[in-house]
Amino acid sequence: MDISFVSSSHRGEGALVVGAVEGMGLAGRAAIANETVAGALKRALGASRFSGKAGQMLELLAPAGYASRLVLVGLGKAVMFDGPAAERAAAEVVGKLFTSGEKELVFALDIPKGSKLKPSMLAAHLAMGAKLRSYTFNRYRTTKLDDFEPTVARIAIVTDEVAAARRAFASLEAVAQGIHLARDLVNEPPNVLSPVEFARRVSALSNLGLKIEVLGEAEMHKLGMGALLGVGQGSERESQLVVLQWTGTGTRNEAPIAFVGKGVCFDSGGLSLKTAPGMMGMKGDMGGAAAVVGVMRALAARKARVNAVGVIGLVENMPSGSAQRPDDVVKSMSGQTIEVLNTDAEGRLVLADALWYTHTRFKPKLMIDLATLTGAIMVALGHEHAGLFSNDDRLAERIARAGIAEGEPVWRLPLGDAYDKALKSKIADMKNIGGPHAGSITAAQFLQRFVDKTPWAHLDIAGVAWQDGDHKALAPGWGTGWGVRVLNRLVMDHYEN
Ligand code: BES
Ligand code: MN
Ligand code: ZN
Repeated sequence: MDISFVSSSHRGEGALVVGAVEGMGLAGRAAIANETVAGALKRALGASRFSGKAGQMLELLAPAGYASRLVLVGLGKAVMFDGPAAERAAAEVVGKLFTSGEKELVFALDIPKGSKLKPSMLAAHLAMGAKLRSYTFNRYRTTKLDDFEPTVARIAIVTDEVAAARRAFASLEAVAQGIHLARDLVNEPPNVLSPVEFARRVSALSNLGLKIEVLGEAEMHKLGMGALLGVGQGSERESQLVVLQWTGTGTRNEAPIAFVGKGVCFDSGGLSLKTAPGMMGMKGDMGGAAAVVGVMRALAARKARVNAVGVIGLVENMPSGSAQRPDDVVKSMSGQTIEVLNTDAEGRLVLADALWYTHTRFKPKLMIDLATLTGAIMVALGHEHAGLFSNDDRLAERIARAGIAEGEPVWRLPLGDAYDKALKSKIADMKNIGGPHAGSITAAQFLQRFVDKTPWAHLDIAGVAWQDGDHKALAPGWGTGWGVRVLNRLVMDHYEN
């Protein structure tokens, strides 16, 4: 789909989109459009409950002599109208019209009086919302269903600041592409996306200037990664560890920031087998790894002035004659031993070695891991917030702020010795499950044993990495790409030179 910025509203064939602020009636371009259609928009307002609230939309089809459709979109309260609000408004329109038969959308929105948004930023964020909402994943359909087949091929955004809007959108678009990649990876079925195939797709990113290394089982064995390898040992498919490096400062001397992702390409639970309903969706158990790859792609595409590394542990958790047993004891790369009492608590085993590897090899300034780690995080936070755990208050605060700014909010949960005690094992240094309570926290305590003193944060994204149906307008389909935005924002605001 083609998104462009134009300086005036050419009266093309497409839909003309104008906006209205909550409770303020028709003003600016909306008022002009209303005159052009002889007051039909105003009459339509009278016949509807449209008040300009965010999320509302009013459509006039084929109004006399003017555009194929006139669309009025609610912008909400003027003072609240910021970049994310503009994205939601554009996404709302695109979501409704993308498969409607309409071929072209022309956005001609004014900046509401009282909003602090600059014209170029309004245009760039409208484009971003349109781009995120026009994502499709139709690779496996052989029939073109009206529900899924987009008809809109072009989106034009009218702005007085065409050049500045293009520049602003270039860096947003890099992020959108990272999000689309993360969604693709989550959406891919697990028969296709094995650890090796995942690693192959990441390797293709070297053309953006990322340095990619892939470690197979033999290399991981040499490194002593018994925790990660134990998870993959029941699978016919080889486990992989992929390292992505972006050296955007021009010097390798500066310590990088590090992102670490759980990449369980399919989580059957292993011998501690999940139930049939509990297993559905477990192709998405690599959502953390997908987000890490997505943000690394975004940093590279926008040439971020930062050194960053991404490390993803890719495995398939399967039951078989060679599978890890409940009661097994494995030795992690750190030397610490783990009694595996439940093979379904596998994500922390993968991360234990991926975190330790990252910490010892790169000595990063900070490490952030992303993982669809626990069902318990959904009990606590539903699908609205990701869980945040950290050993560093300043880092936690920065992530929380980045999350709010990007519409990917996180909520911090505690860590502490009392929780850590739940991991005490009768025969090894720790067991891989805690007690019946605080499951997300005891999982985080487990991870903390593999980060040493490095400033570290853990994001439990089990509730936000995918979704059923349409959610928050920006992510049609299933994988959300959650995490790419918040991490990119964190880098932009605090770690770029
Ligand atoms: N991948 C799951 C967590 C999960 C569950 C993500 C549901 C998304 C939706 C993880 O590997 C897991 O199975 N966790 C167990 C841990 C338990 C055995 C201690 C869980 O949450 O039940
Ligand atoms: Mn599991
Ligand atoms: Zn899992």
